[in-house]
Amino acid sequence: RILKMVKICCIGAGYVGGPTMAVIALKCPEIEVAVVDISVSRITAWNSDALPIYEPGLDEVVKKCRGKNLFFSTDVEKHVSEADIVFVSVNTPTKTQGLGAGKAADLTYWESAARMIADVSKSNKIVVEKSTVPVKTAEAIEKILNHNSKGIDFQILSNPEFLAEGTAIQDLFNPDRVLIGGRETPGGQKAIEALRDVYAHWVPVDRIICTNLWSAELSKLAANAFLAQRISSVNAMSALCEATGADVSQVSHAVGKDTRIGPKFLNSSVGFGGSCFQKDILNLVYICECNGLPEVANYWKQVIKINDYQKTRFVNRIVSSMFNTVSGKKIAILGFAFKKDTGDTRETPAIDVCKGLLGDKALLSIYDPQVNEEQIQRDLAMNKFDWDHPVHLQPMSPTSIKQVNVVWDAYAATKDAHGVCILTEWDEFKTLDYQRIYDNMRKPAFIFDGRNVVDEAKLRAIGFIVYSIGKPLDQWLKDMPAVA
Ligand code: UDX
Ligand code: UDX
Ligand code: ADP
Repeated sequence: RILKMVKICCIGAGYVGGPTMAVIALKCPEIEVAVVDISVSRITAWNSDALPIYEPGLDEVVKKCRGKNLFFSTDVEKHVSEADIVFVSVNTPTKTQGLGAGKAADLTYWESAARMIADVSKSNKIVVEKSTVPVKTAEAIEKILNHNSKGIDFQILSNPEFLAEGTAIQDLFNPDRVLIGGRETPGGQKAIEALRDVYAHWVPVDRIICTNLWSAELSKLAANAFLAQRISSVNAMSALCEATGADVSQVSHAVGKDTRIGPKFLNSSVGFGGSCFQKDILNLVYICECNGLPEVANYWKQVIKINDYQKTRFVNRIVSSMFNTVSGKKIAILGFAFKKDTGDTRETPAIDVCKGLLGDKALLSIYDPQVNEEQIQRDLAMNKFDWDHPVHLQPMSPTSIKQVNVVWDAYAATKDAHGVCILTEWDEFKTLDYQRIYDNMRKPAFIFDGRNVVDEAKLRAIGFIVYSIGKPLDQWLKDMPAVA
């Protein structure tokens, strides 16, 4: 396969841009890949031994290519002007003020990247939308580029990324599908082919799906909405299981055996987190509202409402089982990241659970193997944004922040604690010495497992009062019903 173009530039060296470009560089040795970012500290970290993100297998890939055909740089304009294909992978947070606050995507970073591309380009380029954006963003970007193009031909493609954090490298090596959307013009089709040729280095062609621009953009929002909806569905069932004595794991297993449903993404939990699910659904809701489809908007809104309900329910269960107060009580928090094998805390359910407990004046001792104290304190001090009513809720006061202690070991976190909450499913939490933990805790000793990782029977035999999401309740918890 002979490729005409040889240079790729990616704007945005984040969770998506970094790993994706590293894998493209590894799989396409004849292509030169430059990843650029305005953040000097991020680029410095990408060029060091301590990469800015924790992702299993990433170090190895970067080490193999960096300095050969993979470069990290803050010289954004130089690399963009030299590239044949420019990926844009900048952040698109939810707007916090103005029109669409709480729902619409904030495209500020996108727009400034597009204007910069138009400014510095001296040759034709394919511009690829990589970050998840609302439907029809490509059209807006196309307008910015073409109105400022000075005769240069820009082809816009949408190529949403489906990798999940913690398994990013595996997902990139062996994707379920690669989706490329483009214009149905000869120029658009040529651009699609050029990008398809890049992926075809390692992805079987039958897994590369080519569509129009809007289908590609909407498919990404839809896929995340469907995934999140499965979790909210099983979490809704978990509340019913607790009320009736069914076991949500058994229900999930039985339901998932139906090949029309499938077994994945049916694990009940304290709630989904991460930078994508809530943001993308809010986006979808906003687009539906703008298009006069309130029924559809409300359908998807309910997925987030159940997720919020699940987090509230968890906090209420903790407080009610400890005689309706956790004031002044030490509670150990095991896990803060939004899932295992990542240090990412964006929208992690741990933030809401911790804030709920802090609101009831608990003393928290937090341990996560990949999240540092600075990050945790920052997350807990941040304004909480209410997506349903776009106002900022009060941040924690400085005194309440002193209620939070971050430690580097699960045993230190649990020492003298009244209760333990497991909020991330880190493997190491399965193999802790729970007898030792029990011996060093106040009695009665509680464990609230928000990820269903512990062996309840073993812990009960030790003497713990155990709460697991969606499982039959201990007599203690039945006697102390939680009000959600
Ligand atoms: C997600 C999509 O999976 C990915 O395709 C897309 O590109 C980005 O968004 P990510 O957010 O990285 O990826 O992780 P994911 O594995 O989807 O988990 C999201 C959240 O759902 C986590 O908090 C996880 O703990 C939770 N979850 C997942 C459950 O509670 N139960 C499950 O069964 C699965
Ligand atoms: C259903 C369940 O599939 C079955 O497991 C259960 O035992 C009884 O209920 P049934 O109602 O006979 O079976 O048919 P099914 O094939 O599930 O279709 C139900 C309805 O959904 C039909 O009206 C069908 O046209 C519709 N449907 C199905 C869709 O509109 N879209 C689809 O993708 C699938
Ligand atoms: P994602 O999870 O989508 O990858 P991140 O927030 O991890 O999002 O990464 C986005 C990156 O994009 C950040 O490192 C940010 O500094 C960078 N960025 C945002 N705007 C620009 C811009 N105009 N030029 C270069 N980099 C940008």
